[in-house]
Amino acid sequence: GQAAYEANCASCHQVNGAGIPGAFPPVAGHAASLYNAEGGRAYLINLLLYGLQGEIQVEGQTYNGVMPPWQQLSDDDIANILNYVVTAWDGNQQLQGFTPFATAEVAEQRATARSSNDVYALRQQLGLS
Ligand code: HEM
Repeated sequence: GQAAYEANCASCHQVNGAGIPGAFPPVAGHAASLYNAEGGRAYLINLLLYGLQGEIQVEGQTYNGVMPPWQQLSDDDIANILNYVVTAWDGNQQLQGFTPFATAEVAEQRATARSSNDVYALRQQLGLS
């Protein structure tokens, strides 16, 4: 997953996962907290497949950007990228009962077409603080 992350995600979220405050949220640590939220697992898959649009708060910063969809990536690539971002940069220390993302569950989420606004609605159901 690291190579696919660095090829597709690091231009915005940076190789070290720290993002750019106010422009691109961090994925280091933050991806693991999304994973731990109720519904977070399916949310993360949809986030990559369909992108995200809408105002969010991450670690005290407001973001109101557009994350593009990654439907062109294979189910395998998406599973691998997610396995990387939730475990890298010490995220593995935060995870509560991690089961690696599998190709089949990416295919399952892909079967329902969604917009980036739909993904935003899913995010609001996660019960994040
Ligand atoms: C948000 C991961 C590629 C721009 C996020 C979030 C994660 C993430 C975990 C936080 C979502 C949340 O808190 O709910 C990834 C991964 C990528 C990727 C794994 C590669 C497949 C990109 C790229 C860009 C980008 C290339 C820039 C063109 C953004 C923006 C947000 C965001 C602007 C915030 C959206 C908003 O304000 O609603 N991304 N990202 N992402 N990402 Fe990415």
